[in-house]
Amino acid sequence: MKLGHRLSQLEGMLKQRYSIIWDCCCDHGFLGMSLLQNKLADKVVFVDVLVPQMAQLERKLKQRFPADKFDWEVLCQDLQEVTVPEADSQLFIIAGVGADSAIRFVDSLCASRPGAKFDLLVCSVHGSYSVREALSRHGFRLKDERIILENNRFYEGIYVSQTADTNIMNTGAAMWDWLNPEHREYAHRLSGHYSKKAKTDPTKFQSISVDYKRLFNAINPDIVHQSGSSKHD
Ligand SMILES: C[S@@+](CC[C@H](N)C(=O)[O-])C[C@H]1O[C@@H](n2cnc3c(N)ncnc32)[C@H](O)[C@@H]1O
Repeated sequence: MKLGHRLSQLEGMLKQRYSIIWDCCCDHGFLGMSLLQNKLADKVVFVDVLVPQMAQLERKLKQRFPADKFDWEVLCQDLQEVTVPEADSQLFIIAGVGADSAIRFVDSLCASRPGAKFDLLVCSVHGSYSVREALSRHGFRLKDERIILENNRFYEGIYVSQTADTNIMNTGAAMWDWLNPEHREYAHRLSGHYSKKAKTDPTKFQSISVDYKRLFNAINPDIVHQSGSSKHD
């Protein structure tokens, strides 16, 4: 099972085996199938709303991962209707959706069984700052974080649990490697993007822009000063 760069980076972030891993919003289910193949969970649950994709995925799973050797389940339903079950250890992976959707899904999973312990690996398209805020609000703490570049788009893999030791920083912290030119490019894009947003909607974006500027200024003021014309993150 050959994964693309973003999904293989996400898989590479996992630090333990789980009883259940949920490949949420799985689409073709590539990540979940790789997790099954690499035995990173006793059971993988695939969730998506797309009826034809889920039927096709189920056929593929039956061929490649026979039920006598692998444990999997396909749920063709809205992730917001999923109730977190009891399990020894479980991880929900939410990748490839916008920040607002990712936050809605985190909110609904947490509300479905208050107090349940589970890990999350979130990699939204844009808007990681607000995803991080939501994760902190729900009491999650950081296990790992990673900047991922695929097809000229930057993503943040944010791996959290309620039992980890490290606070989640909204801007990211340990993931930044200032010697890496890709990371400097990402910082440059974020800085430019939120500067522009803060001009059109200061109430919503000024504090985010200030937070990023504070971080980048402390490391390399050039990132902030050159970011006026940068592309969207
Ligand atoms: C771009 S794909 C992401 C696929 C994969 N997770 C990845 O990162 O490459 C987004 C998927 O989210 C699914 N999706 C959107 N809203 C959903 C919801 N409320 N419940 C379940 N799946 C949803 C879509 O059907 C689509 O297949």
